[in-house]
Amino acid sequence: MQVTFDNRVTRLLGVDTPILNAPMGGVVTAPFVAAMAEAGAMGMIPASMVRDRDQVRAVRQLTQRPIGANIHARIADKVEVDDLVEDGVRFVTTSLGPVPNAVARMQQAGIRVFHVVTSLDSARRAFEAGVDGLVVEGAEGAALRGVEEIPLMVLLPLVASRIDLPVIAAGGIADGAAMAAAFALGAEGVLMGTRMLASAEAAIHDNYKRAVVSAAATDTVVIDRHHKAPVRVLHTETTARYLEPTAGSAFKELVPSMRRLYENGDMEASFASMGMVAGHIDEVLPVEEILRRTVTEFAEVIARLAAEHRVTRLRASVRRLEQGVECGDDVGDLSSGGVVGLDIDEAHDPVVVDDEDAGSG
Ligand SMILES: Cc1cc2nc3c(=O)[nH]c(=O)nc-3n(C[C@H](O)[C@H](O)[C@H](O)COP(=O)(O)O)c2cc1C
Repeated sequence: MQVTFDNRVTRLLGVDTPILNAPMGGVVTAPFVAAMAEAGAMGMIPASMVRDRDQVRAVRQLTQRPIGANIHARIADKVEVDDLVEDGVRFVTTSLGPVPNAVARMQQAGIRVFHVVTSLDSARRAFEAGVDGLVVEGAEGAALRGVEEIPLMVLLPLVASRIDLPVIAAGGIADGAAMAAAFALGAEGVLMGTRMLASAEAAIHDNYKRAVVSAAATDTVVIDRHHKAPVRVLHTETTARYLEPTAGSAFKELVPSMRRLYENGDMEASFASMGMVAGHIDEVLPVEEILRRTVTEFAEVIARLAAEHRVTRLRASVRRLEQGVECGDDVGDLSSGGVVGLDIDEAHDPVVVDDEDAGSG
């Protein structure tokens, strides 16, 4: 089963598949980004790599396909936009702060900018600041969270229904079923963090990858709430110390020892960012295989749902009648939502019935 995507996210980003890796510093390296891009998805360069131009160029050596970069909002105004463009970056996400002034400069240079938001208010502000789209992050996801801590299932439809911008959903997405759910709630793309930690290309110690695979959904905690910088991490003896309001800042105290965790696999040396979705990640897989399985399952899920639920294609005239507007006779098209070219096998052929056939026209 195959699916061809054609929506605002694929068009703006120039990719075939609207899936992004989380821009994870110390985890994502040039081969990782290239693996994403070569598979037709959007490979995201983490903010820490953007600081070193040679690392961005190293990605370009490995792939000519579209690539993107994450920039932390507070340093965005210092970023050399011309260097980014010269190194082939045409898509940027800005995160961890309000929309930076640099957005207009990046857009003038031909870069599409999506801002990461964690509430309806921050989405509204980003819209008013003129960004091209939003990454909507739910509280179940890994690493730094918004102080509002709103789960994706609530936040995504809220933002998508009120703000007219393309949305990429993040938080709790590790497979095609979750991607289909995100699309049902208004997303046109998804971003995966925790799923990509358990990938062959992730540049972290096997102990960290094994911890993702063996974690239950209940094995993560949110630390540093008392510093208004909530971080979702694996629950360990070390991270438990930062649950109490009396505790210091895990960010300040444990980031310096992060290398011992990433490189030596000492899971108590620092905090291991991890989302709740680790609870249903069972295997370390190559990036390409994660993408292939996700897209295949996405196609199967939407085909199965269409087959199981008799879908009546209401004529636009009937809809207008219901709304008390004068009749026309054009026919509503269920395929106009942006996912086109779904090749389904006969067993899953969705039942789509024109209202005349259903006896209601
Ligand atoms: C190790 C790690 C580092 C991350 N670093 C960043 C970052 O620098 N900037 C950012 O915008 N998001 C960062 N994220 C958060 C992700 O972008 C994303 O919101 C989250 O992983 C999505 O939820 P999921 O983990 O359930 O897929 C990071 C995530 C992880 C796991």
